[in-house]
Amino acid sequence: MAKSSTHSLFYELQKALEVFLKKPQVEKAANFWAQATKMILLCDEHYYKKDAPLVPDVDYDKLVKSLEKIENLYPTLKKNSITQKVAGTASEQFSKVEHRTPMISLSNTYNAEEILAFHEKVLKFLDWTQDTPVEYLAEPKLDGLAIEVVYEKGALVRAITRGDGTVGEDVTRNILTIKNIPHSLKTKNPPKIFEARGEILLFKKDFAELNAQQEADGETVFANPRNAAAGSLRQLDSAITASRPLQAFFYGAGAVEGMKEKIETHGELEDQMGKWGLPVNDRAEICDNIGSAIKYYHGMEKTRPKLPYDIDGIVVKVNSLALQTNLGTIARSPRWAAAAKFQPEQAETKIEHIEIQVGRTGALTPVAVMTPVKVGGVIVRNATLHNQDEIDRKDVREGDSVIIQRAGDVIPEIVRVLFEKRKQNSKAFKIPSKCPACGSPAAKPEGEAVTRCGNLFCVSRMKESLKHFVGRRAMNVEKLGDKLIDQLVDLGLIKS
Ligand code: IVH
Repeated sequence: MAKSSTHSLFYELQKALEVFLKKPQVEKAANFWAQATKMILLCDEHYYKKDAPLVPDVDYDKLVKSLEKIENLYPTLKKNSITQKVAGTASEQFSKVEHRTPMISLSNTYNAEEILAFHEKVLKFLDWTQDTPVEYLAEPKLDGLAIEVVYEKGALVRAITRGDGTVGEDVTRNILTIKNIPHSLKTKNPPKIFEARGEILLFKKDFAELNAQQEADGETVFANPRNAAAGSLRQLDSAITASRPLQAFFYGAGAVEGMKEKIETHGELEDQMGKWGLPVNDRAEICDNIGSAIKYYHGMEKTRPKLPYDIDGIVVKVNSLALQTNLGTIARSPRWAAAAKFQPEQAETKIEHIEIQVGRTGALTPVAVMTPVKVGGVIVRNATLHNQDEIDRKDVREGDSVIIQRAGDVIPEIVRVLFEKRKQNSKAFKIPSKCPACGSPAAKPEGEAVTRCGNLFCVSRMKESLKHFVGRRAMNVEKLGDKLIDQLVDLGLIKS
């Protein structure tokens, strides 16, 4: 039988909700509503407080949609529901600050039809006929951490995370360490107040380097660049934040007072922010109508793997600021903008066995070796399982059928086990207590995630140390590649 981890409970609930929503019964509604609410709050805690998501975003969004469907069927449940609030909470570790204007979220769409439905809602609200074109601004939806940076008379005075949308965490000291955020706006005539809103992120290559370093130091390995960015920003010691190459992009404004420049569109607002020295995304495009916004969506999905940072979709915004004001906002999202998310490509495959790799610091890393399968145009065979905690959390075993996806569409990861296909005789997987390379005892110190080989002269550790030493990021010795090092060590030509 499958172990009932929170992770598998999530998917059991998802299935039960699907069945319920096909044939809703009033006597069961409150119960399902409560279960879905509880699970969403649990997911929020993992995502916002622990910076380690329980499940992929699509699955979380699906659960929120199910909850909304229940509430639409039984509207009395809507009152006091989490669907009426912005997800997330401010942590107790930082002092709390209230946003001058709430930092709301965006409603999600997932394909061309849903983007069109968003446009039709815009027209309906404005009471415009179906064929009226609306000018939109489309830009990448950055997969990072939302931030508000407050400039008063042009000087950076405060930086606040989104928190629950009303109250966020004061992370000013940490934000001041981010190199591409100006400490003052480049203008002789600054507005009295300008709240720049944007996203903090880590570029993919910086994420890979950070994780390699974290792994070598025996520290937590982050699941994706977003979690790494969030974990790096929410450090009590700003020296740690300073050591991480975080970047910012700004895409909007909160409270604005005393702005001299005449700004009429969202595009002009972003241009103005750029002129003041705030980093803005150069891939934003004005679309004459919703058709071009949909074209942009498809185009960006193709460009996505080539971008140096992770995006999880695009954002479509009504370009005219006057129309934005007319359209206003509902509970937790504006009527004038919508996210259009990409579907992560997932595939089913089977874990043939779990291999243990020994790194240069002796860390034993379990890697799932799977039947090769194509995901997002790339053949995937291996996926790291990180450590024993991760194996236990997902209850992954040899022989299991699994759903995999490419996290941030780059690194393959196991999303979940298909427990219904599990063989009866399967056994829980434990990382061995002996190093598979040299046979020395391997141990997992209390409170640490990583199991390590204790032998400094372990053949695998030696090979990996040498590969690191001669590698591109260190001595950059040409023609001395991984294969040659393996041979030299195996033949006993290199002994230490
Ligand atoms: S505009 C009224 N533009 O996505 C909210 N948001 O899922 C306006 N995000 O809360 C937000 N890239 O943290 C906007 N280009 C972009 C964005 C973006 C990422 C984030 C933002 C927002 C969240 C909603």
